[in-house]
Amino acid sequence: MIPAPSSRFKNPRARYNFQGRTVSITGVGSYLPARVLTNHEIEKMVDTSDEWIMTRTGVKERRIAAKDEFTSDLGAKAAGRAIKMAGVTADQIDLIIVATCTPDMLFPSTACLVQQKIGARRAAAFDLEAACAGFIYGLEIGQQFIMSRTYDAVLVIGAEKISTITNWKDRNTCVLFGDGAGAVVLQNRPQSHGLLTAVMGADGTKAELLKVPGGGSRCPATAESVSTDQHYVQMEGKETFKHAVQAMQTAAQEALRRCEIDITKIKCVIPHQANRRIIDAVGVRLGVRPDQMFVNLDKYGNTSAASVAIALDEAVSSGRIQRGDLILLVVFGAGLTWGAAVIEW
Ligand code: UT7
Repeated sequence: MIPAPSSRFKNPRARYNFQGRTVSITGVGSYLPARVLTNHEIEKMVDTSDEWIMTRTGVKERRIAAKDEFTSDLGAKAAGRAIKMAGVTADQIDLIIVATCTPDMLFPSTACLVQQKIGARRAAAFDLEAACAGFIYGLEIGQQFIMSRTYDAVLVIGAEKISTITNWKDRNTCVLFGDGAGAVVLQNRPQSHGLLTAVMGADGTKAELLKVPGGGSRCPATAESVSTDQHYVQMEGKETFKHAVQAMQTAAQEALRRCEIDITKIKCVIPHQANRRIIDAVGVRLGVRPDQMFVNLDKYGNTSAASVAIALDEAVSSGRIQRGDLILLVVFGAGLTWGAAVIEW
């Protein structure tokens, strides 16, 4: 018989400590490509203005990966930093999960390419696709493997080269996105701080709102699919915006409820960095004080699955987050998909 979870929370879905296993983030790292693309440069590409982009999105500039720099390169660099901080060697990693919607290739997985690049010879590796919500999906899956005693050290990476699926002639979308990667090492650390809970959700009935239709089995690459821009991001911005605010609010509240934690006790809220107005609206609905909210989308734009991982790394390295602080991550993406996680750092 499986013993009841020992937990300091009444709600068993807050899995602080299951049979003596606690999942801690022992390392975090990120990597941003060097090339900065400013709003003023985009003004020369499409009919837009720095003023429109700043007021409607909050993005000032974003990073663009080099031609010979792929999602696996960005992910491997972020992973190397996370592994260093965790004080482990690549050999000690049991599993690599790469959350991405811009894999190097349809197959093999980007996770396998990262495994080769960092030399994690013992690790199993797979990609997961939950668009911008992928990093929290990855955290939850990684946590489950550790809680179930299958693995002791899991590398979760969010990595994107969104510039390759961006239509640089479409002003509705090209101003929004950027390239980058963030990574964490999850390890079993008994009686330590850790990942308190993660919430995941999806609604496939709204799949049409945000998509890249070309390149899959439904619309394989043809001369016509390429000439009609089927391989680029298509988004119904206003509808997506509404669902993003609602889903992020609900996911965050569910995660806090499971852990019996009031929002005022959260030191740092790290939301998906898609649009400053979405972040502000979610903040108002959750009752978040401005000093609790972490925002870096002015520098990087929307880096999809990498977004909250990069922000987490910056919040830690800048001293915004100290050991013992409570953190709330909340994300939203195509699918639709969403998620939230509460972490005791
Ligand atoms: O990461 C996944 C989740 N992603 C999101 O959650 C993104 C959600 N959506 C959004 O962030 C916003 O909807 C956008 C930033 C994409 C657009 O903002 P909006 O306030 O919803 O603008 P809109 O699409 O309703 O467009 C308003 C006007 C339109 O002109 P008309 O039709 O009113 O004449 C657009 O053509 O703004 C125009 N517009 C632009 N003008 C200058 C759209 N893009 C631009 C642009 N520059 N870049």
